Amino acid sequence: MKNTNLIKTGERLLGKTAIVTGAGSGLGQASAIHFAAQGARVMCADISEAAAQATAQLIEENPGFEQASFIKADVSEEKSNEMMVTKTLDTFGRVDILFANAGVPGAGSVTTTTKNEWDRVIGVNLTGVFLSNKAVIPHMVSQGGGSIINQSSLTALTAWSGVAAYTAAKGGVVALTRQAAIEYAKDNVRINVICPGTIPTPLVTSVYEERGGNVLGGSTPLDQALAEAGEMFPLGRLGNPEDIAYMAIYLASDESKWVTGTIFPVDGGYNAI
Ligand SMILES: NC(=O)c1ccc[n+]([C@@H]2O[C@H](COP(=O)([O-])OP(=O)(O)OC[C@H]3O[C@@H](n4cnc5c(N)ncnc54)[C@H](O)[C@@H]3O)[C@@H](O)[C@H]2O)c1
Repeated sequence: MKNTNLIKTGERLLGKTAIVTGAGSGLGQASAIHFAAQGARVMCADISEAAAQATAQLIEENPGFEQASFIKADVSEEKSNEMMVTKTLDTFGRVDILFANAGVPGAGSVTTTTKNEWDRVIGVNLTGVFLSNKAVIPHMVSQGGGSIINQSSLTALTAWSGVAAYTAAKGGVVALTRQAAIEYAKDNVRINVICPGTIPTPLVTSVYEERGGNVLGGSTPLDQALAEAGEMFPLGRLGNPEDIAYMAIYLASDESKWVTGTIFPVDGGYNAI
C-alpha cells in the first residue's frame, strides 16, 4: 500500500489504543491505518516483524495521525500474545480495542486435510483468537471495559468446498465470540465478530494461484477468476479491505456501545442468498 491518500478522517476512536493482529497485510493493515485515521493509537502486530513495522511506519509518517508501534507476534503462541499486550501497555498505557484478525489460508476437504495442516490452520485461526482474547481481557476488565473484534469468515455461515479446517476454525471463532461476549458483558468488555466475504488480499490470491486460478482447481487466469468470483456476490463485486475496516471502526467505537455477541457479515449480500 502506498503512503498516499491517507487522510485523517475523523475522531471516532480518539483517545483509544488498539491492537491489530495480522496488521502487516490485507484487512489488518487497512484496519490499522483506518483506526489511526480515526484517532486511535495502534499497536501493529504480525508474525512478520518487517510487515508490522511497515504498517506502523505508514501511520507514523502521516501528519495528524496518532502514534503507532509494532511487535513481532505469533498469535498461536500464548507467550507471544502476552508480550504483545505487555508492549502495548508499556508503550501506550492502556488497551481499549483488540482486532483479532491474523489468519492463514488452508485448503483441503475432510479427507484430504492432513492432521498437520488441520493443526496449523486451527492453531492460528481459532487458537490464535482464543489466546489474544485471553491475553487482553483481564486488562480491559480492570480498565472498566473494551471492545474486541474477532475475524471470522463467510465460510462460518455458508458452506464452501475445499476449506474444511479453515471453515471449522472460523465457525469456532463465531461460537467463541458469543460465549466470551456473555461472559464479560458484565465487565463492559464487548466482543463481536466480522464475517467477511471474498476480498482479494494475498491470503485469497495465494489460494486461487495454488489452484490454477479457481477455488475448485482449473486453469483460469487469476484476474478472470477473481472477476468471475465477484459476480457471485449480489452487489456484483469482491470486497475491498476498507469495507472491513469501516465495520471494525464502528465496532471499536462507542457508537456500538450496546452491541455485543453479534455476528456481522460484510459480504456484498452473499449471506442473504
Ligand atoms: N481476504 C478475504 O477474503 C477474507 C475473507 C474472510 C476472512 N478473512 C480473514 O481475514 C483475516 C485477514 O486476512 P487477509 O485476507 O488480510 O490475509 P493476509 O494474508 O493479507 O494477511 C494476514 C496477515 O496475518 C499475518 N499472520 C499470519 N499468521 C500469523 C500468526 N500466527 N501470528 C500473527 N500474524 C500472522 C500474516 O503475516 C499477514 O500479515 C484472516 O483471519 C482471514 O482468515 C479474509
